[in-house]
Amino acid sequence: MPDPSFTDIRWFESIDSTNRYLLDEARGGAPHGVVAVADHQSAGRGRLGRRWEAPAGSNLLVSVLLRLGLPPEARHLAAVVVGLAAVDAVIAECGVTPRIKWPNDLLGPDGRKLAGVLAEADLAGPQAHGYPPIVVGIGINVGWPLSDSDLPGDLVGAVTSLQQEAGRPVDRSALLHALLAALGPRAASLGTPEGRAEQASDLRRCCVTIGSQVRVELAGGGFEGLATDVTDEGHLVVATGSGSRTVVAGDVLHLRPAG
Ligand code: BTN
Repeated sequence: MPDPSFTDIRWFESIDSTNRYLLDEARGGAPHGVVAVADHQSAGRGRLGRRWEAPAGSNLLVSVLLRLGLPPEARHLAAVVVGLAAVDAVIAECGVTPRIKWPNDLLGPDGRKLAGVLAEADLAGPQAHGYPPIVVGIGINVGWPLSDSDLPGDLVGAVTSLQQEAGRPVDRSALLHALLAALGPRAASLGTPEGRAEQASDLRRCCVTIGSQVRVELAGGGFEGLATDVTDEGHLVVATGSGSRTVVAGDVLHLRPAG
């Protein structure tokens, strides 16, 4: 059974973007815990302004509206708990154990991408001076791609699906309910510093970026170093030749995996 905070599930056959839908609902005063799911998105949003595409009815495309009152420095943890809940759900429903590539990609056992997370907050909205609602969307590759031949050239070898990894079809609805059940307690625990530290420690346990040599891409340029830890706010710590840097937001390329 889903946690009581995630029982308002709005399932769309087709929509532009479940993240866009919930951001609009949040602006209209929708409460914490509303869930939007789509069989198909015509303008699915990915990180860094990219598109998120999947054939209709194949993958789990879901967003949740979170009103957690998180202080700005801990805001990243909203996305972290959705990623961790997805890991829990995939283990429970498929027997496959994904790892998390910072900030929030789920990777299969051979490092191919299984899912991506996009968190969006309405910082210019009416709550701009308080703690804004956060919409966290996740796209989990459930039944697509079935093989590399389904993928455009630039994604060949980089993307996988639960069906490929588990070797059998996986039920999207069962996966959704497992994800929401895992998310309930994880989201609730973000209400205290101890709970936030616990979620960060779970992230540490399954974060494949820690121990990897990385290149961090930032808006104004990039740098390389060894990812050594994540902070209790879920930020990435990278050791460089000139000291340690904490990355709050950015894209990370794994240059050499953890040994
Ligand atoms: C990424 O780029 O890795 C993040 C992808 C996030 C995609 C999901 S699908 C459900 C939700 N609605 C969107 O428009 N995007 C997110």
